[in-house]
Amino acid sequence: MVSSKLFALSALLGLMTALPVRSAQFQVTVGGPGGITQFSPTTVNANPGDVVTFVFQQKNHTATQSTFANPCSPAPGGFDSGFVPVSENNTSGPFQEAQFQVTDTNPVWVYCRQTGHCQLGMVFAINPGDKFAAFQAAAMGNTTSNTSSSTTSPSASSAAPSTSSTSASSTSQDHRIIVGGSTLTFQPSNISAQPGDTITFEFHQKNHTITQSSFAAPCQRLSSTSTSGQVGFDSGFMPVSQNATTFPTFTVQVNDTSPIWAYCRQVSHCGEGMVFAANANESTANTFEAFEARAQEINGTSSNSTGSSATGKNGAGAVRLGGTGIAVGLAALLLGLTL
Ligand SMILES: *[C@@H]1O[C@H](CO)[C@@H](O)[C@H](O)[C@H]1NC(C)=O
Ligand SMILES: *[C@@H]1O[C@H](CO)[C@@H](O)[C@H](O)[C@H]1NC(C)=O
Ligand SMILES: *[C@@H]1O[C@H](CO)[C@@H](O)[C@H](O)[C@H]1NC(C)=O
Ligand SMILES: *[C@@H]1O[C@H](CO)[C@@H](O)[C@H](O)[C@H]1NC(C)=O
Ligand SMILES: *[C@@H]1O[C@H](CO)[C@@H](O)[C@H](O)[C@H]1NC(C)=O
Ligand SMILES: *[C@@H]1O[C@H](CO)[C@@H](O)[C@H](O)[C@H]1NC(C)=O
Ligand SMILES: *[C@@H]1O[C@H](CO)[C@@H](O)[C@H](O)[C@H]1NC(C)=O
Ligand SMILES: *[C@@H]1O[C@H](CO)[C@@H](O)[C@H](O)[C@H]1NC(C)=O
Ligand SMILES: *[C@@H]1O[C@H](CO)[C@@H](O)[C@H](O)[C@H]1NC(C)=O
Ligand SMILES: *[C@@H]1O[C@H](CO)[C@@H](O)[C@H](O)[C@H]1NC(C)=O
Ligand SMILES: *[C@@H]1O[C@H](CO)[C@@H](O)[C@H](O)[C@H]1NC(C)=O
Ligand SMILES: *[C@@H]1O[C@H](CO)[C@@H](O)[C@H](O)[C@H]1NC(C)=O
Repeated sequence: MVSSKLFALSALLGLMTALPVRSAQFQVTVGGPGGITQFSPTTVNANPGDVVTFVFQQKNHTATQSTFANPCSPAPGGFDSGFVPVSENNTSGPFQEAQFQVTDTNPVWVYCRQTGHCQLGMVFAINPGDKFAAFQAAAMGNTTSNTSSSTTSPSASSAAPSTSSTSASSTSQDHRIIVGGSTLTFQPSNISAQPGDTITFEFHQKNHTITQSSFAAPCQRLSSTSTSGQVGFDSGFMPVSQNATTFPTFTVQVNDTSPIWAYCRQVSHCGEGMVFAANANESTANTFEAFEARAQEINGTSSNSTGSSATGKNGAGAVRLGGTGIAVGLAALLLGLTL
């Protein structure tokens, strides 16, 4: 009866065995006109195999997996749509979408990582049971990272990175940085991190590195310029194909409060400003802006920006974005699944 249409379509798609016929679709609107900072609805109860589709409206949000314990911090290895900017006056769409396939009945906690949004209560959950209110309250009562200026020592030129973390009082946090994708950037490119924190770089299209350098020589490996024998981290090249569905990561341990300078050593990328900093001290001359400008000055010859662009087609293609099965594409591409 009802299922004859489903059956026909499934057969047509050749997905009869792969696609659970009973799987449900949930549509969740992210943001919207007038600067509204909410997911709507705020919760869904879903079964394994169901698909939650986030529809990104105005203005510039993410759907990012977190944890109940830390509502406003990315869950290590969790999914993240990345920022999806939509102009306030774009009321017609088509709006970009991201899909998350539910794999079990455990709660999945989600927030928007745009600055301040989580603290405004912009959170969402799949199968929260009766814990959603507590989750949202925690999001609103806690800032993302407890960055009280606890450490007084700048130790900017500490030449001896400690082997173990000089642990701070607050609980450590993982900072997730998206590398490449539709732009030649680290996103975010300028963070502050506490000793004991980790920074996880998630590599998107096309072929990038995260390589430690120095403020003096933004686009050269620390190992080649350090006078004190520092080696510095280097992820190596991480090629990611246009149709990739999983993204390799590289994690860096934050050992102290001194600035960490880094870049992508793919040909010409650094000169185009593809640099990253943690704990740049904005009250010194060595700001993030100065570092980026230096990279562009020293290594940027604006005539050289050909072939190696990492420009993906996140807007129009069906580029999958998340660590664990979140896809971003346009509404039209989902036709095959919409019943
Ligand atoms: C969206 O927000 C992110 C994070 O705040 C920002 O880096 C990015 O530039 C914004 N995009 C637009 C188009 O405003
Ligand atoms: C949309 O808004 C932007 C600024 O947010 C403005 O520059 C642009 O002209 C507007 N476009 C239309 C069609 O109103
Ligand atoms: C509205 O935003 C969507 C998603 O970013 C985009 O694809 C579409 O072209 C925009 N429409 C207009 C009229 O700007
Ligand atoms: C902060 O969040 C934690 C759980 O993540 C919660 O136990 C605590 O009460 C919250 N603090 C405030 C001030 O809401
Ligand atoms: C943040 O850290 C300070 C001092 O380390 C502590 O007093 C405060 O309770 C912490 N706040 C949260 C929300 O954990
Ligand atoms: C930043 O630099 C100023 C001036 O040198 C210094 O007083 C301050 O302690 C530094 N902050 C950090 C977090 O290192
Ligand atoms: C922190 O220390 C570890 C172990 O010595 C090292 O591998 C890592 O590169 C250090 N992190 C930074 C940012 O220097
Ligand atoms: C870089 O981060 C610092 C704080 O960590 C902030 O004060 C500064 O405005 C940021 N600069 C840019 C260009 O985002
Ligand atoms: C940047 O320029 C320096 C000095 O010319 C050079 O040694 C280095 O290889 C360049 N780095 C990149 C990534 O092009
Ligand atoms: C990635 O880039 C490096 C350096 O340009 C190059 O040697 C390597 O072959 C590239 N890998 C792929 C798969 O394109
Ligand atoms: C991705 O596309 C390349 C060709 O561009 C193809 O060789 C590869 O098999 C594809 N991978 C997947 C997982 O579809
Ligand atoms: C720009 O191209 C010239 C000639 O191809 C080359 O010598 C130079 O090293 C390039 N500069 C950068 C920053 O790639």
